[in-house]
Amino acid sequence: MQPLNNKTMPHLKTKIGTDIHVAAELLSANNVVAIPTETVYGLAGNIFSEKAIKRIFEVKQRPASNPLIVHVHQLEALNDIVKVIPAEAKILLDAFAPGPLTLLLPKKAAVSDWVTAGLQDVAIRIPDQKLTLALIAEAGFPLAAPSANPYTYISPTSAMHVFKMLDGRIPYILDGGSCRLGLESTIIGFERGKPTLYRKGAITIEEIEDKIGKIKLPVSQKIVAPGMHLKHYSPKTKLILSDDPETDIHKYGNLKVGLITYNAYSNLLPCEQQILLCQDDDFKVAGANLYGAMHLIDSMNYDMIIVRKFPETGIGLSINDRLNRAKAQR
Ligand code: TXA
Ligand code: MG
Repeated sequence: MQPLNNKTMPHLKTKIGTDIHVAAELLSANNVVAIPTETVYGLAGNIFSEKAIKRIFEVKQRPASNPLIVHVHQLEALNDIVKVIPAEAKILLDAFAPGPLTLLLPKKAAVSDWVTAGLQDVAIRIPDQKLTLALIAEAGFPLAAPSANPYTYISPTSAMHVFKMLDGRIPYILDGGSCRLGLESTIIGFERGKPTLYRKGAITIEEIEDKIGKIKLPVSQKIVAPGMHLKHYSPKTKLILSDDPETDIHKYGNLKVGLITYNAYSNLLPCEQQILLCQDDDFKVAGANLYGAMHLIDSMNYDMIIVRKFPETGIGLSINDRLNRAKAQR
């Protein structure tokens, strides 16, 4: 596990539970709480509490220049947060909210620069997770929440992942079980009025384009959002992304290797050194299992993790995006 080294932080007793009243009370008192979503677990705080927002950055050890996503429980709540909703954004909200869709929209003054890192747009989404929707309604304010992992480490898809990474740093983890989708939301912004993809995610490009037509893809590697930073989602073990795992297993034959693959085991390694993300071609299942597999295999002290690259289509694009960043070394 990635050690957190900010010695000034108080050590808290971290509880795991399913009680939204406990979570809402803690949030109302400016604390941060881990929350389940259908994508990954988030590290949540009241967007109107500067103390809570600062604490999110502190717990995550994330630079303050990286903006946060604001989670609301219903469309009406957007009225307090954003100035306008472009027509394409309305179509997407209609199709995918609640769900793994994040939109970048012009913020109202009520949203502090702490949340948006000084940007004019705020990222918003309505998560499709019953407990968390009930929690936001009960709390009475939107929740800013990045993924609940230390900066650059693997995102959590279970309460236990969060506990292992943030035990002692936060008072409460709201347990909603394993995340259904397991990959972060797809982020769409409106650069010069044109729908633009900022992060590949649980909704595929095809699904988005089916609703609003062609979207712009990032043309360069220019970093406009931290999720676009090359190094992200990374295990501590060296990871390589492989078009041809069998060749790489041979190549690194002198090392103890763990393999993450799909469809079929390799004959070149014992099965217990391999994790199968899905049995057939349903790559949404593979996406849901990806981070869990990475957490597990990273705890096994291999010299190297080899991950079989996915076909560059549909959810395979989102999975490969995460793996390309995961392989960048610390
Ligand atoms: O599925 C998800 O989106 C999860 C769950 C918890 O909702 N959240 C998540 O948050 O992935 P985080 O902070 O790990 O990633 C959010 C990404 C970051 O890359 C951030 O830079 C980008 O969204 N972002 C947030 N606000 C932005 C803004 N105003 N403009 C551009 N990018 C923004
Ligand atoms: Mg994240």
